[in-house]
Amino acid sequence: MILLTGATGSIGRHLVRRLAERGAGFRALVRDGAKGRALGCPYAVGDFDDPASLAAAFEGADRVFLGGPGALPVDGEQPMVRQLTAAIEAAAAASVEHVVKVSVWHAEPGGLLAQGAHSVLDRRLAAAGPAWTLLQPSGFLQNLLAPGAFTPDGRLIARYGGAPVSHIDARDIAECAEVLLTGAPRPGESFVLTGPRALTDRELAERISLALGRPVGLAPLAPDEVAAALTARGAPSGFAADLAGLLREVAAGSLAEVTAAVPDLLGRPARTVDAFLADHLPALRAAVQLP
Ligand SMILES: NC(=O)c1ccc[n+]([C@@H]2O[C@H](COP(=O)([O-])OP(=O)(O)OC[C@H]3O[C@@H](n4cnc5c(N)ncnc54)[C@H](OP(=O)(O)O)[C@@H]3O)[C@@H](O)[C@H]2O)c1
Repeated sequence: MILLTGATGSIGRHLVRRLAERGAGFRALVRDGAKGRALGCPYAVGDFDDPASLAAAFEGADRVFLGGPGALPVDGEQPMVRQLTAAIEAAAAASVEHVVKVSVWHAEPGGLLAQGAHSVLDRRLAAAGPAWTLLQPSGFLQNLLAPGAFTPDGRLIARYGGAPVSHIDARDIAECAEVLLTGAPRPGESFVLTGPRALTDRELAERISLALGRPVGLAPLAPDEVAAALTARGAPSGFAADLAGLLREVAAGSLAEVTAAVPDLLGRPARTVDAFLADHLPALRAAVQLP
């Protein structure tokens, strides 16, 4: 039986659908029973913030998809470190055989925000007992649909200083997890998952313009301007500074490479930006605030 955490998230919701379609035995961990019912699959209610609630959810699982939240605007250690440590400990206590964990590209000791947090977690998982496989994705195309991707007048906010980024479709991450959880597990391996091409924000805006049939402009925002806007909205200054640091790394090309991991795992090319946009037109129109 496979247990999914982060089952309602940007990757997990697609993995739920894929596992249900193939008739795999699985259960989703959800914080809220209503969300479990909405998923329409077997679920257990539990919360990373309540470690005692995790034991029953993990009981009987032999494989785990470990997804969860990313970095939050807080001071000090990211809550995801404590939260996912509780999940790793629950997996070990339940004698889970194999954990497929969502990490992040450049998860390295001392890394900023999620990169540092996942680095701690990836090492804790490696020491915990179960076999492990790490998925280390580039930025998600789904971020385009989240609040704050576009200005109120419908321009793409360009934070990466003209550097190309090999954005990945979260559906491809879910399918890579599916292969690892239901087929060849590839224990001890880490996969940097990217899309098939790296695009600058200008190229991305051009693709979005073509998809929507109207021009979508760019609103460049320098890392320090992003940080200032965040602190003006009440985010801790340390968090804002770390985010600016991450954006500088991306602007220097840290997410520009295209890897072969998705084709290697799935036996087909990674989904293109154009395919993502075509499949999400209503949500994209809403994100750009088109009538
Ligand atoms: N976004 C990116 O571009 C990107 C790039 C590389 C790596 N990543 C990594 O990918 C992962 C997913 O990021 P995301 O932004 O896609 O997240 P997301 O869609 O917001 O998903 C987060 C999931 O974690 C669950 N969750 C949150 N707090 C929980 C708690 N206390 N107990 C149990 N479940 C909890 C959420 O459930 P609810 O429905 O209850 O909230 C949701 O299912 C993160 O680890 C992030 O670092 C993200």
